[in-house]
Amino acid sequence: MRLPALLLTAALSLTAALEYPLSQRPKLLPMPYSPRLPFPNPPRRSSSRVCVVNTHGDGTTDDSLSILFAFHQCNDGGHVLFLRDVTYIVGAAMDLTFLKHVDVDIQGRIQFSNDTQYWQENSFRFGFQNVTSFFVLGGEDVWVYGGGTLDGNGQVWYDEYARDVFTLRPVLFGVDGLRDSVVSDLKLRWSPQYYHFVANSSNVVFNNIDIAGDSRSQNSAKNTDGWDTYRSRDVTIMNSVIDNSDDCVSFKPNSTDILVQSLVCNGSHGISVGSLGQYVEEFDIVESIMVSNISMSNGSDGARIKVWPNAPSAMSPDLQGGGGSGRVRNITYEDMTVNNVDYAVQITQCYGQRSLSLCQQHPSRLTIDDVTFRRFKGTTSQKYQPLIASFACSSAEVCNGIYALDMDVVSPSGTRQAFCMNQDPRKLDVECTDNYKG
Ligand SMILES: *[C@@H]1O[C@H](CO)[C@@H](O)[C@H](O)[C@H]1NC(C)=O
Ligand SMILES: *[C@@H]1O[C@H](CO)[C@@H](O)[C@H](O)[C@H]1NC(C)=O
Ligand SMILES: *[C@@H]1O[C@H](CO)[C@@H](O)[C@H](O)[C@H]1NC(C)=O
Ligand SMILES: *[C@@H]1O[C@H](CO)[C@@H](O)[C@H](O)[C@H]1NC(C)=O
Ligand SMILES: *[C@@H]1O[C@H](CO)[C@@H](O)[C@H](O)[C@H]1NC(C)=O
Ligand SMILES: *[C@@H]1O[C@H](CO)[C@@H](O)[C@H](O)[C@H]1NC(C)=O
Ligand SMILES: *[C@@H]1O[C@H](CO)[C@@H](O)[C@H](O)[C@H]1NC(C)=O
Ligand SMILES: *[C@@H]1O[C@H](CO)[C@@H](O)[C@H](O)[C@H]1NC(C)=O
Repeated sequence: MRLPALLLTAALSLTAALEYPLSQRPKLLPMPYSPRLPFPNPPRRSSSRVCVVNTHGDGTTDDSLSILFAFHQCNDGGHVLFLRDVTYIVGAAMDLTFLKHVDVDIQGRIQFSNDTQYWQENSFRFGFQNVTSFFVLGGEDVWVYGGGTLDGNGQVWYDEYARDVFTLRPVLFGVDGLRDSVVSDLKLRWSPQYYHFVANSSNVVFNNIDIAGDSRSQNSAKNTDGWDTYRSRDVTIMNSVIDNSDDCVSFKPNSTDILVQSLVCNGSHGISVGSLGQYVEEFDIVESIMVSNISMSNGSDGARIKVWPNAPSAMSPDLQGGGGSGRVRNITYEDMTVNNVDYAVQITQCYGQRSLSLCQQHPSRLTIDDVTFRRFKGTTSQKYQPLIASFACSSAEVCNGIYALDMDVVSPSGTRQAFCMNQDPRKLDVECTDNYKG
């Protein structure tokens, strides 16, 4: 039944270069910083190997077999082309971890089907916080771009999650084991959960990504993080616009040498380290992170570091933990402009634990060292007024070298107070108080 479609794809690929113009590879402009590894810069792929992805074109029938076929045909030296003004439907989980030396030119729209039962049974499992994904991208020297759209069809998931918090909502863009690759010039819409989960990857650049997707029902879109990095190093996220309602970017366990710069985040929970130390027996590392030139509006936090204490704690029925160990070290947040954000900066080593005294009696086994916030400006929201920030370490022994410099941030009433617990106030350019507001 599928065969004619597949043959058609093969036939098309021969003439595609003539009939369908390919997108230009994006130019990567690293501002203000360049990452420590040079950006990937592979030679152009063969212009005679273009696989145009075939589609049923009816807006409902699954095109995943044609998509996989095109990836296999043009892998290792060619181009996979999703045509402009075409909507492709993906109704089956696609393992794309075999890719190498390929350009993926997404000019059209790729929409994931709304079959929540199928996806919960078949999506890829990442073995971290029940994260799953529609597809998983991996391999080496992969360039994905083209100006097109990935549409997660999130509304059914937002409604399903409101009925059952254990619904396994897929991540829109799942990455596992990707090296020396670039993802650029894409629109991501209505992800059921996180927009990107990036695991086991190194030297990967995300550039010029436009993220948005609101719920159209009374059930809001939850946990729509822009990016989560996990077991990854040398990842750059830059020049992107994110409109969501959870972390704009979040560094999960074993994220090192990550550069995040020139983002416009709206509605988010900030750029977050963690949460870490959730699982006893695990050792979490987040190290050498640079976050620079960020605009942060209408959200809960600007810069945030969330660490669980060494006491069992519960945020919610599906989010519990505490007692894990590890280290957060060498983290810089600079040049952040906040507008209508609840806290410009929030560090907590008491995540999930409502009792501060219980938190201090059981200091975190996860240390925080050498963290600098500098050149912040703007105005917070009224929520925690007169506070603009909160620095809560569980003990001075496990939290060192925390600096907040050139903090030109005020609350709507003009105050610049911050809750400080186990801090050296001389290192914090705010007015420290004992006034705790959560
Ligand atoms: C799911 O998608 C199918 C096919 O596109 C459509 O007929 C149906 O109305 C959708 N269901 C929901 C709940 O959105
Ligand atoms: C990452 O790599 C490890 C080691 O090969 C593997 O066990 C794991 O399944 C991979 N994926 C994730 C999400 O950790
Ligand atoms: C993962 O799912 C299981 C079973 O549905 C649930 O018990 C657990 O709390 C979930 N964990 C997280 C971190 O969501
Ligand atoms: C993180 O790295 C540490 C040190 O190598 C290791 O012990 C730990 O298992 C890693 N954690 C994960 C989730 O990969
Ligand atoms: C900061 O980011 C904005 C986009 O939000 C960009 O226009 C500007 O050039 C960046 N500035 C620097 C110094 O990189
Ligand atoms: C920004 O976020 C707010 C609050 O979530 C939302 O109401 C508004 O529509 C968003 N604006 C833009 C331009 O995305
Ligand atoms: C700290 O992180 C920065 C990136 O922000 C990196 O350039 C530097 O080498 C790191 N320093 C140490 C001592 O790891
Ligand atoms: C969100 O922030 C932007 C830019 O900072 C602002 O113009 C806009 O009015 C805000 N929207 C809401 C709903 O607060």
